[in-house]
Amino acid sequence: MFDDTFQKRMKVLIIGSGGREHALCQTFKRNQIVTKIFCADGSAGISEIAECVNIKPDNIADLTQFALENRIDLTFVGGETALALGIVDEFEKHHLKIIGVGKKAARLESSKSFAKDFMTRHNIPTAAYAVADSPRQAVEILRGGKFGDKHSPVVVKADGLAAGKGVVVAANRAEAEQAINELENLVGKEAVAKIVLEECLIGREVSLLMFAAGENFALMPPVRDHKRIFEMDEGANTGGMGTITGANLLTEKEISEISAEIIEPTLQGCREEGFPFRGILFLGLMMTGTGVKLLEYNVRFGDPEAQAILVRLKTDLLEICEAMASRTLDKINVEWQAGSSACVVLASKGYPNKPVTGDVISGLEKSFEDVTIFHAGTKKDSDGKIITNGGRVLGVTASAKTLDKAIEKAYRAVGEISWNGMQYRRDIGK
Ligand code: AMP
Ligand code: GLY
Repeated sequence: MFDDTFQKRMKVLIIGSGGREHALCQTFKRNQIVTKIFCADGSAGISEIAECVNIKPDNIADLTQFALENRIDLTFVGGETALALGIVDEFEKHHLKIIGVGKKAARLESSKSFAKDFMTRHNIPTAAYAVADSPRQAVEILRGGKFGDKHSPVVVKADGLAAGKGVVVAANRAEAEQAINELENLVGKEAVAKIVLEECLIGREVSLLMFAAGENFALMPPVRDHKRIFEMDEGANTGGMGTITGANLLTEKEISEISAEIIEPTLQGCREEGFPFRGILFLGLMMTGTGVKLLEYNVRFGDPEAQAILVRLKTDLLEICEAMASRTLDKINVEWQAGSSACVVLASKGYPNKPVTGDVISGLEKSFEDVTIFHAGTKKDSDGKIITNGGRVLGVTASAKTLDKAIEKAYRAVGEISWNGMQYRRDIGK
């Protein structure tokens, strides 16, 4: 699929505007063959290394036209929105080279009921669940006792994409019923066409991502996100306030178990059901007392998982993309820098509910060894100053031999950055 264009000069297009996409731009930029990077629609930080294109990730028609007109050699999709809308299917119709899953495989993320039924069909260990077609039915199922008595915790999930807001871990039935009734207001009608109820699992949460193509996959370092806004895992869920890699998040034995019980049946299931997986597979896992359970699939890099992972990638990302496209992932050795990494997210005042934007960010001119500052919600004002332009603003990412050192380096850099109302967690990785 990639033929000889890989030998020449390449133009790469990244879809998205977050810290994850900034990390992707930086990682592609390390390759000499990549002579031009476009990013739709980018950020102030991304504009330093790529040409930002003013097209949103959900505008598949304009993105296709842009890629054709500019003879883009390779497109890499950052987030789930464009994937769920079928950007990969559309690009491939026009013989455009693109890395990501098609619309069918994207359902593993875009519909939680589809994902749970898929796990059941392929015997993949996961929490017990039920799918309701309406809030009323969901309440009836709860009252029927499938998830224990009225004191039992239960997890309520909107079926569709909800930007991290569609899951409520309810401490008891009353809280669950309240969550069911409020879900539509929170995430919109479309995302709650179905509601998934789940047994509440207890254990250690960790994510495992991989490059995947057909039956082959190359694992990334296991990663842990910190989803709650406040320290000690308190407050509302967010897109992610910080991530760490390394420090034995998973043992070799656990990784073998995950490969045999989850990864292999998933890739085989995708092939059997007619949508071979080619893209980034992201497993949200719970290590419980009775073994590993799969909480969810994502079909893309996480944000801020990508930042902590990609700073450790030694192998050329372009080479990995070529191997994914030509189904030769098993022929290459994807290598990672030994040690650990940590990404601390700096967010605007009011995030995640009502982020305040437009504040001037100071301290960005300093540089620190082994630290990269990835931009998410930033833009330049009319004087060229960098200002906040979203909830999550920066991802300060450090790598080191040990996790403690990586955390220390990241927080030292964080100490130099500020704006009015900046908030972050001081306990990432602790
Ligand atoms: P999800 O988007 O499905 O990963 O859910 C978001 C978060 O909710 C996860 O990262 C977990 O912390 C929590 N969660 C989801 N499902 C369960 C479950 N069955 N039991 C316990 N916690 C869960
Ligand atoms: N940080 C969680 C996600 O990207 O899904």
